[in-house]
Amino acid sequence: GPESTNPLAYRYYDASRMVLGRPLEEHLRIAVCWWHTLCWPGGDAFGAPSLARPWHEEGGDEMAQARRKVEVGFEFFAKLGNPFFCFHDRDLAPEGTTFAESCQLLDTILDEVEAAMERTGTRLLWGTANLFGHPRYAAGAATNPDPQVFAYAAAQVKHILEATHRLGGENYVLWGGREGYDTLLNTDLGREQEQFGRFLSLIVEHKHKIGFKGELLIEPKPCEPTKHQYDFDAATIIGFLRRFGLENEIKLNIEVNHATLAGHSFHHEIAWAASEGMLGSVDANRGDPQNGWDTDQFPNDHVELMLGVYEVLRSGGLGRGGFNFDAHLRRQSIQPDDLFHAHIGGIDTLARATLAAAAMLEDGGLGEHLQQRYADWDGALGKSILAGETSLQELDRHVREAGDEPQPRSGRQEMLENLVNRFT
Ligand code: XUL
Ligand code: CO
Repeated sequence: GPESTNPLAYRYYDASRMVLGRPLEEHLRIAVCWWHTLCWPGGDAFGAPSLARPWHEEGGDEMAQARRKVEVGFEFFAKLGNPFFCFHDRDLAPEGTTFAESCQLLDTILDEVEAAMERTGTRLLWGTANLFGHPRYAAGAATNPDPQVFAYAAAQVKHILEATHRLGGENYVLWGGREGYDTLLNTDLGREQEQFGRFLSLIVEHKHKIGFKGELLIEPKPCEPTKHQYDFDAATIIGFLRRFGLENEIKLNIEVNHATLAGHSFHHEIAWAASEGMLGSVDANRGDPQNGWDTDQFPNDHVELMLGVYEVLRSGGLGRGGFNFDAHLRRQSIQPDDLFHAHIGGIDTLARATLAAAAMLEDGGLGEHLQQRYADWDGALGKSILAGETSLQELDRHVREAGDEPQPRSGRQEMLENLVNRFT
């Protein structure tokens, strides 16, 4: 509870607490990510791995290490109490020397994952393919100038999409890490867009073929590792999906730090996706306002998250989605229990943001103001404009006949900001 001074206690997260008629756990559907939590060894561009994990030992048997990760991973989930996890294929098992061998190594570990899921009840929020790590993908996967690379990536997605289906995954995520460019001097933008559209259509087709009922999600990010990424932000992706007729097939996975990298806020990206009915899931984390990178820190400011969560709740929730902690420790956080402090703090921050957002929604003040601000669009003039019943000529006549000039109205921004502060 909020009074606890135990640094490993949840102060706000209470899985069964009822919020807006549903347990908090069902609103949040929290997931731990395999890559940062179990795989990342703490190295950066300037320095060696700093996090001592028994399953990272150099020169060790990679498959034995992969098995150990399954064991400690599910133990960690049980201690934390998160209902879901997420992974990339390459987080689970190392690549083999051939594609067939990579698939076989992965399947061996997937068997263990499946058994652990059955044993513990932890579920898969989403699976994804790592189409950015291997040098073959340096110039992109779907948008590579070599169609052989496109084919390889397609085969990789087929395998992991089927595995996600087999494990009962709730969603499948597509993050186009290197679907972009480093320089326009060697890039044919037109071709690359066509390739990317084709790639997504193939995945949609296969999803239906195998009967996967989960959502396909694209995760926007404006740059990093490429200078410019095609799935720049929610608005760009939505336009892209419409161009290829995929707007009813693919939704969005919004990541907080990707929103800020794109020069937006988390609130903006969630509101945009929700307004188009395409909000799927969230990668929870935060950036650092003092630098422009994707620092993937654990969220610890509930006020920063609260308005985004408000939009999630206002739009009816995430459905099959959830909140995945796509966040990693700082390189100096080398004590094993730092991993617990990070996740517990992140989950608690999210819970606190949700309680605040729910209280604001129940108060109704913000919603009421919004409704009043646009109320005239439900009147005769507004309706006929939107129904396409008025020409410019008719609007000209309307203005001349009305005689009065429209009067400016206050946007009430400061008053609304103060209203929000009542709930923080
Ligand atoms: C990278 C990122 C990825 C995706 C999955 O910035 O967010 O981890 O979430 O590929
Ligand atoms: Co992410």
